[in-house]
Amino acid sequence: MFSKFQSLPSYFGGKRKLVKQIFKPIKKTDGVFIDAFLGGGSVSLYAKAKGYKVISNDIAFRSYIIGRAIIANNSVTLEDEDLARLFVQSKNNGFIRQTYCPKVFVSKTADFLDNAVAAALSVENENKRYLLLHLLIKFILACRQFGQFSNTRVTKDLEARKFDRPLRSRLYASRNIRMIQNPMLTLRKLKDQINHGIFDNHQNNEIHQKDVLDFLKDVQGDVVYFDPPYLGSNPYEVEYGVLEDVLAGKKLANEPSAFNREDIASEFMEKMFAAATHIPQWIVSLGQNKKDVGITPERLLEMVRKHRKAEVQMLEHKWIMNNAVGRDQKDNIEYLIVTV
Ligand SMILES: C[S@@+](CC[C@H](N)C(=O)[O-])C[C@H]1O[C@@H](n2cnc3c(N)ncnc32)[C@H](O)[C@@H]1O
Repeated sequence: MFSKFQSLPSYFGGKRKLVKQIFKPIKKTDGVFIDAFLGGGSVSLYAKAKGYKVISNDIAFRSYIIGRAIIANNSVTLEDEDLARLFVQSKNNGFIRQTYCPKVFVSKTADFLDNAVAAALSVENENKRYLLLHLLIKFILACRQFGQFSNTRVTKDLEARKFDRPLRSRLYASRNIRMIQNPMLTLRKLKDQINHGIFDNHQNNEIHQKDVLDFLKDVQGDVVYFDPPYLGSNPYEVEYGVLEDVLAGKKLANEPSAFNREDIASEFMEKMFAAATHIPQWIVSLGQNKKDVGITPERLLEMVRKHRKAEVQMLEHKWIMNNAVGRDQKDNIEYLIVTV
């Protein structure tokens, strides 16, 4: 796998394993690559490495941070002195401790994060600010088992100093206990991973945080990749709601996206394609984790063919722990709709 992916956080529905197949049908090998759903950044990073000017978008702040830290940033790296800033006492409202301890974070980690998120947000240099927030996203996902926020029992046990259950997963328990005792050790390791992903592709890459319909109205480019949430899968706003709240320092509404709503998903998808007719080539990802659930490849192909000649390709794709989050995905089928 492309080694620079280690600079990114693990992300639900991330396409690390599919990037080669996604780029194969693209006609233009230079110019502007538009990633309309940046997510964890794997497709944008691969496009950056191929030398395209990358214009990425996602509605979520977590993805905007990832994009600013790794895709738009061509040269600034993290130093040990930058990590020290996370420990300098900063003014904060103790939101994480009050809201997510002990369900999601043990008290020691919650206190560290309350201080560190506020400290990172107050850094004046934008590149360093987004790099530090990106580092904290990686840290937060690493201290949750499989990068998920749903299993609360292990953290509750760790907080109560009951180690039977945590130790059943030795790897996770030892890593987590180390992170609780000494966050700096983990931060240094993550810092090296992040720095490995920073390079200059001699392009002025752009990151946007907009609803996809607003984004498409103004963006110009040669090829657009669409990787929207799949109807029938857990909404991103639910999956990463805690992370968004932590970054905002308050509880957000985290309403499921239109793509996850049975009643309007198809209509929204139609609008999305209608808004992209000025972009010459489209590559669209579609996944189904259960047959007959969500939008079928035939239906999606029909939507795309209203505007362009297109074909559907079925991809071999088994999501792994690192790529998605460790749930059973063996029935998952991935398709690509490619305009020709
Ligand atoms: C399947 S993920 C993208 C994964 C990405 N290709 C990767 O490799 O990591 C879908 C993304 O769509 C974003 N999203 C959901 N609704 C959106 C909307 N209306 N406009 C823009 N982005 C949206 C989610 O925040 C999520 O990050």
